[in-house]
Amino acid sequence: MRYDLAAKYDLRAPRYTSYPTAPHFGPAVQASTYRGWLRKLDPAEPVSLYLHVPFCRHLCWFCGCNTAATRLEAPVAAYAARLGEEIDLVTDAVGARLPLRHLHWGGGSPTRMAAADMATLMAQVAKRFAIQDDAEIAIEIDPRTLAPEFAAMLGEAGFNRASIGVQDFDPVVQRAINRVQTVAITAHAIDALHAAGISDFNLDLMYGLPHQTEASVVRTAETAMAFGPSRISLFGYAHVPWMKRHQRLIDESALPGTIDRLRQFDAARRALERGGYVMVGLDHFAHPSDPLVAGPRYRNFQGYTTDGAATLIGVGASAIGSLPQGYVQNASEVPAWRKAIESHQPAIVRGVALSDDDRLRRAVIERLMCDLAVDLDAVARRFFRDPEDLAPSIDALAPLVEDGLVAIDGWRVTVSDDGRTFLRLVCAAFDAYLAGAAQGQGSKAL
Ligand SMILES: C[S@@+](CC[C@H](N)C(=O)[O-])C[C@H]1O[C@@H](n2cnc3c(N)ncnc32)[C@H](O)[C@@H]1O
Ligand code: SF4
Repeated sequence: MRYDLAAKYDLRAPRYTSYPTAPHFGPAVQASTYRGWLRKLDPAEPVSLYLHVPFCRHLCWFCGCNTAATRLEAPVAAYAARLGEEIDLVTDAVGARLPLRHLHWGGGSPTRMAAADMATLMAQVAKRFAIQDDAEIAIEIDPRTLAPEFAAMLGEAGFNRASIGVQDFDPVVQRAINRVQTVAITAHAIDALHAAGISDFNLDLMYGLPHQTEASVVRTAETAMAFGPSRISLFGYAHVPWMKRHQRLIDESALPGTIDRLRQFDAARRALERGGYVMVGLDHFAHPSDPLVAGPRYRNFQGYTTDGAATLIGVGASAIGSLPQGYVQNASEVPAWRKAIESHQPAIVRGVALSDDDRLRRAVIERLMCDLAVDLDAVARRFFRDPEDLAPSIDALAPLVEDGLVAIDGWRVTVSDDGRTFLRLVCAAFDAYLAGAAQGQGSKAL
């Protein structure tokens, strides 16, 4: 780990779950554009579906997701009803029963919904899409709100993958982030999922949280591995209180600095690798038997995936869709989203139509994020472009090459193991929307 370079590259950069990234979506793409794009989908081509639930029981102070805490049942039930209307609206616009290869419920906490409402929605999805026999059907789970009947419903509805939020098992850290979740609560949730026939699961861990230390993240990683997850995510805490006001409740004086964040990541990484997990991309670890390890791998709004579908349909407030023509995003706030759905209009408020240059750079950035290497010539050929068009980006990599973080051999760009930590900055060099790698946006790159 090149701790000596931390100050030099202590910059902000996007996480590249899309390219162009969401801050570059604009109002030129609206509901009418989306309807046109949906109509043009190939009815034989499998798609993916993302459903967003922006509710939680309690708010974790670190949370960067689009969600709100509520103790009331009525708004969640009303939301579920509108979600059903949106599924009808979107599939009517497509005009065909599309094959479905990946389905993902995210949030927020989908487990905050009533089990009966989710079962109804899943039946509706099955009516509106032809769910393939080998489809991945996944859900994000807050173990603190997973009722046994909810877990049973997931098994009956055909779910085969769960992503479970943990963050850190240390009670001091948990209190500092307003998320008290004992090891027993996590164990109960995993047992309930197993009993429902769902044994393939991911645990979300974080580093860079208040009061975390190298020792505490290693202990958390070891406890997590003992549950036998097929994947573990290790996210660096993105502290953006100017965007997420509740993060002001986090005691900034207890946050680790950049070097300590790097040390925590490195310590947890070594523990996970000792335990037999293989690092994938920026922040994922997978059991060698998991398909993410052999690939092919892709990157979308949920992180790393084996889902290579060209179309992702998003439903729910703030959901992002990715279609062959470009990206679309629904209104983030539930009232604005609901108003659109109630007037039988897609709730799209922004997006971006992809240019040829966007497609080329998107493919380059996706390969780097997934494989830490890219053959620029091969990618450029795929898009009938000249790799020379990327020459300014290669020039922008010069400082990283000099520091041994990236190697360039002909048109092949390879990120070194030391360079992994700086991966977002490597990608930023190919981002035409940023004025060079050194002026990235978003959260801290390290
Ligand atoms: C939608 S939540 C997972 C499901 C469920 N809501 C839960 O928390 O158990 C998605 C994950 O994003 C990660 N996350 C949330 N806020 C973050 C932030 N500010 N920085 C980095 N990761 C964050 C956490 O690891 C969290 O588990
Ligand atoms: S981390 Fe999960 S449970 Fe906590 S507030 Fe965010 S979405 Fe809700």
